[in-house]
Order: sequence, then structure tokens, then C-alpha cells
Amino acid sequence: MTKLANIDWNNLGFSYIKTDFRYVSHWKDGKWDDGKLVTDNKLTISEGSTALHYGQQCFEGLKAYRTQSGDIQLFRPDQNAKRINNSARRVLMPEIPEAKFIDAIRQVVQANEAYVPPYGTGGTLYIRPLLIGVGDNIGVAPAPEYLFCVFCMPVGPYYKGGMKPVNYTVSDFDRAAPYGTGAAKVGGNYAASLYSHDLAKKSGFADCIYLDPATHTKIEEVGAANFFGITKNDEFVTPVSPSILPSITKYSLLHLAKEYLHLSVAERDVYIDQLDEFKEAGACGTAAVIAPIGGIEYKGKLHVFYSQTEVGPVTQKLYDTLCGIQFGDVAAPEGWVLKA
Ligand SMILES: Cc1ncc(COP(=O)(O)O)c(C=O)c1O
Repeated sequence: MTKLANIDWNNLGFSYIKTDFRYVSHWKDGKWDDGKLVTDNKLTISEGSTALHYGQQCFEGLKAYRTQSGDIQLFRPDQNAKRINNSARRVLMPEIPEAKFIDAIRQVVQANEAYVPPYGTGGTLYIRPLLIGVGDNIGVAPAPEYLFCVFCMPVGPYYKGGMKPVNYTVSDFDRAAPYGTGAAKVGGNYAASLYSHDLAKKSGFADCIYLDPATHTKIEEVGAANFFGITKNDEFVTPVSPSILPSITKYSLLHLAKEYLHLSVAERDVYIDQLDEFKEAGACGTAAVIAPIGGIEYKGKLHVFYSQTEVGPVTQKLYDTLCGIQFGDVAAPEGWVLKA
């Protein structure tokens, strides 16, 4: 094991830290170059780049985990490869071959091994792949060139001292349109969410819930995470809609709920006025794994699920199982973890 970087591992948050190496590959004249590791964290791109004007870009987020034996493992990077290519297709960008995507991630993790937090601190190496349209351009059209970049930084555990439920309010605004780009991880969706996020924070909530943009009756996303609920009959339920970003954490939890916890599972509509059917609820995504939902404010009333202070038992079990797999303490389903 290489020597660890001089970092206060127990006080890491989720903020930018410049690590030593990042990967850049350039697409031009119909093909990708081999890509390479570089040390400079600045990109020099044309002022006409479509990523800057027309939002022609997309990104991913995943983590590398240090196991008890000191190895470093990635969690389902093939799923991020598939998702970045879905996003790329939606905004007319070239796809990244899956092997190239995973190789780039491995190169970045290995080159920055000293920044992967030690096992037991709860910290991880957050990895951010980015695909952007660049090159001289002015009209609304796909870019002549593209950059695929991967950078990383150590981040702390989302919860210091255990999971805690948080409250959410329902946004009056949408993050995506009914047949828009909600299922793609493109920057525009996040720009569209900043204002509602700010309003929710200023009203004392962790974030806001987005309803389906067509009818505003069904839950879609919880901030930048997917929703799940555990019904009073012990069913794991998560909303289905073409404008939700398909969360890799959500589909992993759905599998664990079924195969490890032996619950029935369903992807179906979740109506905002029928929250009573759930005894527990949570938001899930790479950053937190699970943020237990204490309550949801809708039309001036706070609907409380399990508790505003305690985590429900099913939520806790799902969280422990998934974290156990990610850190190598629980046997993973075939193909879920990959040595970095
Ligand atoms: C809008 C949105 N929904 C859901 C998620 C959760 O997805 P994942 O579990 O793949 O991190 C994310 C984070 O990537 C997100 O940005």
C-alpha cells in the first residue's frame, strides 16, 4: 500500500480537494484518442464550446472504497458507463466505450491511491467523470470536439455518528419536463434545481421533492436522489417515470430488498397524497447511500413516516447491507464490485 496523503481523514466533508492526477481524452474527427493522466486541474477550451453555451455535457458520480484488507474497490462502474452513454446519446455526444470508461477510472484511482481514505473512517474516494462538448462553434448544434475527463477527491462519510432522518418539502418547480432530459445526467437538470433547493434550505428543509412534471401528483426525485418507501405490508416501493434519473443505488437497494431482505418489491407510481401507505421512506444515491426521510411537507402539512429522530429498521438494514458490500464486508452479488 502506498503511503497515505497527509489529510485529516476524520474531518473530511464533501468539498473539492485537488488530487495529483486526472484523466483527459479528446474526441475529434470521429474518434477518441488514447487518453492520458495529467497533473493540471485546469481545462483550456474554446470560448465557443457548446458545453458553455448550450449545456451540451453530462457527468457521472461514483466512489472507490478501501476494504479492511487495504484493497480498493469500485462499486458497479459498468452501470455508470451505461448511464453516461445514455446521457451522451440524449444530447448528441459520442459514446465512451465501456472498457475505456472503466480503464480511465482505474487509472485515476490507482494514480491517486494515497487519497483513498482508510477503511473504518467511512470516507471514500469520490470520482467524477465528465463529458463536454468543446471546440470552436457558435450555432445551436453538436460540438465538433469532445473531452472526456475523470477526476477524484476524498470525501467524508455523509453521516458522522450514524444516519439521521431529515425533512423535505415539495417543490412548486420542476427539475425536468415530461419528455425532457430528466433521465439523463446532464448539467441543465441541476441548474434547474438550484433555485428550488435554495428555497427549501431557506425554509429549514434538507432539500425538496420534485413531483412528476405532467400532473404534479406523483413523487419523482428527492433533491438529487431517488425516493423509496417501505409499505405497511413490507413492500419496497420506488417510483417509475421517464423523467427520473435511474439511480444505481436505488436499483441496488431494490435487488437487496428482494434477495437479501426477502421483501416484495415494486416500481410504480407513488402519489404525494397517499403517503400513509408507507411506514418508512428514504432518499437514495451515491453520496449518502440512504438519507432516511423523517417527514415530507406538502400543502402546509408535515407527513411523518417512521420518526423524525430514529431510523426505521428496514431502512437501517438496507443501509448496512449496501455499505457492507461497498466496503467489502458483505458478499456482493456477482459483478457488483471491481478491484480498482
Ligand atoms: C437527480 C439524481 N437522482 C438520483 C441520483 C442517485 O443516483 P446514484 O444512485 O446513481 O448516485 C443522483 C445522483 O447521481 C441524481 O443526481
